[in-house]
Amino acid sequence: MNQEYTISADTIVSAMNWRYATKAFDRNKQLADADRAALLTALRLSPSSYGLQPWKFLVVDDNATRSKLGEAVPANKSKIEDSSMLVVLARRRVTTAQHVEQHVQTVQEARGVSAEELQPFKNMLTQSAAGRPAADQDVWNARQVYVALGCALTTAAMLKVDACPMEGVNPEKFDQTLGLAGSDFTTTVAIAFGYRDKSDPFASYSRARRAASEVIEFV
Ligand SMILES: Cc1cc2nc3c(=O)[nH]c(=O)nc-3n(C[C@H](O)[C@H](O)[C@H](O)COP(=O)(O)O)c2cc1C
Repeated sequence: MNQEYTISADTIVSAMNWRYATKAFDRNKQLADADRAALLTALRLSPSSYGLQPWKFLVVDDNATRSKLGEAVPANKSKIEDSSMLVVLARRRVTTAQHVEQHVQTVQEARGVSAEELQPFKNMLTQSAAGRPAADQDVWNARQVYVALGCALTTAAMLKVDACPMEGVNPEKFDQTLGLAGSDFTTTVAIAFGYRDKSDPFASYSRARRAASEVIEFV
């Protein structure tokens, strides 16, 4: 599905200047279904190393569950409770040979290639991904989740949807509340999406970024 599309450079720069990590959400404003779907699609279509997608995205629509999550992290409580859509991004702790097998099958079906053609890819994944020490895999998988986080934040900005990324989560309590405890997945980071509340002073703050000359080097 390679559709043609155009977004101007100005639009992207404006969107990135418009966005900020929203600290207070308007409880009365809800995302349109199409925006909700686009954000979830952006998460799902995010790139990951070897395409392994070692993640799960939990959309927490239930208010009682949100309250429980909010209680676990007082600093982010209001964002968790007042935003229109809360997504918890979980990483898979370990990639096994079975996950490699599933992924190779997904590629096979999506691209109509044979198992034989994909055998070298499968061997490489088995060695390079599933073969890593478990602790390395956990860190590696978390990195992939952060790529999805970035994609979702940029998408939100382009949709003119406000968002707050939150590393301020309590993985143990979140895992218990979301039914992840004892599963292959664990809470990594969360995103609150919605619309800024008038009371949020952060909305008017200027972006505090290092100069381009300091962070971008042309070699
Ligand atoms: C990975 C990550 C984790 C963050 N965690 C939190 C958080 O738990 N709570 C919060 O209010 N803001 C959080 N932020 C927002 C940052 O503080 C914010 O992006 C940064 O100060 C820059 O401000 P700006 O995004 O408004 O330009 C997080 C941002 C990132 C990228």
